[in-house]
Amino acid sequence: PVIRREDYTPYPWLIPATKLVFDLGVNSTKVTATLSVERNPDAGASAELRLNGDSLKADAVLLDGETATCWEMDEADLVITLPGEAHEVTIETTIDPSANTTLMGLYASNGMLCTQCEAEGFRRITFFPDRPDVLSTYTVRMEGPKDQFPVLLCNGNNTASGEGEDGMHWAEWHDPWPKPSYLFALVAGDLAANSDTFTTMNGREVELNVWVRAEDLPRTDHAVESLKKSMKWDEETFGREYDLDLYNIVAVSDFNMGAMENKGLNVFNTKYVLADIDTATDGDFDAVEGVIAHEYFHNWSGNRITCRDWFQLSLKEGFTVLRDQLFSQDMQGEAVKRIEDVRILRAAQFPEDAGPLAHPIRPDSYREISNFYTATVYNKGAEVIRMMRTMAGTEKFRLGTDLYFDRHDGEAATCEDFVTAIEDGAGLELAQFRRWYRQAGTPRVEVSQELKDGGLALTLKQTVPDTPGQDAKGAMPIPLRVAVHCRETGAIGEEQLIVLTLDEETFILPLSGPVPVLSINRGFTAPVVIERDLERDDLVFLAASDDDPFARYEAMQELAVNHLVAAASGDLDEAGRAAGKTAICDAVRAVVTDSELDDAMRGELMTLPSETYLFEAMASGMRKADPGAIHNEREQLKTAIGVTLKRELESLYARVVDIAFDDPAGRGARKVKSIIAGIFAASDPERAAIMAARQFDEAGNMTDRQGALMVLCGLQTPARDEKLKAFFDRYQGNDLVIDKWFTLQAFSLHPDVIDQVNELASHPDFTMKNPNRVRSLYMAFAGNPQGFHAIDGAGYRMIADLILALDPINPQTAARFVPALGRWRRIESVRAGLMKAQLERISEAEGLSRDTFEQVTRSLGG
Ligand code: ARG
Ligand code: ZN
Repeated sequence: PVIRREDYTPYPWLIPATKLVFDLGVNSTKVTATLSVERNPDAGASAELRLNGDSLKADAVLLDGETATCWEMDEADLVITLPGEAHEVTIETTIDPSANTTLMGLYASNGMLCTQCEAEGFRRITFFPDRPDVLSTYTVRMEGPKDQFPVLLCNGNNTASGEGEDGMHWAEWHDPWPKPSYLFALVAGDLAANSDTFTTMNGREVELNVWVRAEDLPRTDHAVESLKKSMKWDEETFGREYDLDLYNIVAVSDFNMGAMENKGLNVFNTKYVLADIDTATDGDFDAVEGVIAHEYFHNWSGNRITCRDWFQLSLKEGFTVLRDQLFSQDMQGEAVKRIEDVRILRAAQFPEDAGPLAHPIRPDSYREISNFYTATVYNKGAEVIRMMRTMAGTEKFRLGTDLYFDRHDGEAATCEDFVTAIEDGAGLELAQFRRWYRQAGTPRVEVSQELKDGGLALTLKQTVPDTPGQDAKGAMPIPLRVAVHCRETGAIGEEQLIVLTLDEETFILPLSGPVPVLSINRGFTAPVVIERDLERDDLVFLAASDDDPFARYEAMQELAVNHLVAAASGDLDEAGRAAGKTAICDAVRAVVTDSELDDAMRGELMTLPSETYLFEAMASGMRKADPGAIHNEREQLKTAIGVTLKRELESLYARVVDIAFDDPAGRGARKVKSIIAGIFAASDPERAAIMAARQFDEAGNMTDRQGALMVLCGLQTPARDEKLKAFFDRYQGNDLVIDKWFTLQAFSLHPDVIDQVNELASHPDFTMKNPNRVRSLYMAFAGNPQGFHAIDGAGYRMIADLILALDPINPQTAARFVPALGRWRRIESVRAGLMKAQLERISEAEGLSRDTFEQVTRSLGG
């Protein structure tokens, strides 16, 4: 069945209190749930109490303490007919956590028990109104064998504990904050904590614990530090204070997503908790910090104010992503973080918006909500709120969020509530802006300019592309920071914010000199595609001289994209091709030799657009993407850069190779080092092999070690297998690092990558039961432009086989592989046919999960 946003009705009953008793066992856990139920005065009266269930059977149903008969099953739901206005309903269920491979509900991981309830996992634990607008106060008692589960955790505060007979023990927990069922969590296992405290702005002392397996304790300091920084930052930046005396984080190795913000008891994928220099890269450290912050920030944007229904998911996710991005900008530096976030948006969200799965940040319908935890809801959702912040200014925006938190605290709210609060609090007028919540598709803004009356007349024309189920869209307000520089004098123009609200509009901008060069969408103020025809010299000028770091990055990207798309489309003759390469090499030279740049920013500017981004740029209008041609042209360009700038790159390498790990400049140095090795891998593979092997041997940290191995993996050199083996032997038993070992091979440019991935699938360390491991091999492969898009279709078949094999085990994770095949419409016809055939093969399989069924049908255009 399709669920529709417009069909929302409030639940007819309130559940002011919920009591849960768990008799814990890995193979059998008994759950007794007692719900206080009373009529909801704000809803239409109904005698029917519909409790959702999924794969559950009721062992007993009691009404006010007596065995009840006034109930029946309606498919998976349990429906009770209630005689009066207020009752106590008790239900007993028995579940088998060890058999739960979906990792939704209560499941076993490495001998411990843990839960994942968002979005609809709680109904796999007990029958309950499993919807986010039913808030209840939870009291939980859990009991189990002490040797097996020495630590018993739940939401809120631990109110009592004790020992029972026969080696049993128990704990009682109470969470004073009413919450929806998706925020429930329980953990029982043999865990050790890295503990600390944080004193809030009003003097509340909070106990912090990061729980892991004892042997992982040495890798938890970064997580604890990140948590403390997040707590402080949210007080200073958004005025948000923590509201319990305890904050627990538990790391589990089997987890479908990144982490989960359950009240007072976050459950995390180990990948976003564990980090030390020997096992985690600089990027991994940042990811831990970012996800810890994200889940912490949810305590206000998500938990204190939750969502009325799942169509409002972006209310908490978009806002929380924005909050974690702003936090990381403050921690790591604004320019580089902004560039990274835009890169993620373009790599993950733009393709979504341009394909068969396109949906607005507030979707209108779904079959399976798990399929809507998307880059659109998360990352575009964050961009939409960021635009409001840009238009309001930081201070006024804060007034808006203050009002939002104040007005809706304790409620299950809607995106509309959020926008209204920003309107009222920040003093913005957002009537037309609401289209960003309704309309899918990435707007395109066409730029034309002419000199007029001593200024630059800038004409902007927007179009919002049709997407499945949506056409003839209205104009969106598009805030753009702009400046007009001068190429002749080098003058830097003053920045201003313009907001395009019509289909077509002309703005007059002041000139700063005789040869105007427009700098537009500075800082990426709007998530749109700018279509402009800038002369190559203008792009070179912007890349070298723009005062906005994002605009410099953008100019570099545009130089490369323009050249590579033209070359891959066959639009360039030899002379044009040579001229394009020369201009890019000149621009890269300027970046490599610019002594004012720090290396972290230099690394961004030296990074060529990804093949995914080039795919998107090539597949516009009537034109289709040709991944083979894109790959070849991009490799050729890398070769040209490596050959032309050999001397400059070598001297840069020689400088950064000596920068110490702890040096504040160390991070940038490591980034630049790996980029240079990657360029040499194309231009001089033998030299690159020697460089990378040496870097690998001398590495004192995972960033250098992984960077070197990445280069080696794409080369046909004996050092490849030798270092891969050394890496494996060194880290055998460390799951997160062995994941890297799988990924490096599956993502490599090696010509035999398909055979290698097939072989890795039968490696003793490969398992379909662990999502991290599945993703480490197959997500990496699905993102490998060469392997996945192999012209004989072997890559597509491999991913389809995986989806079919994984779907019965873990449908949520299986469905995440479908979008890769769903891009068939935008690709040249031979590959398009092969991809579509695989989607059809999946769709014909018997017993597909709702998750995969929905994604495959939508991808085929049904
Ligand atoms: N709310 C979590 C987060 O963004 C993600 C949970 C996703 N769970 C799911 N089953 N799709 O932090
Ligand atoms: Zn989130």
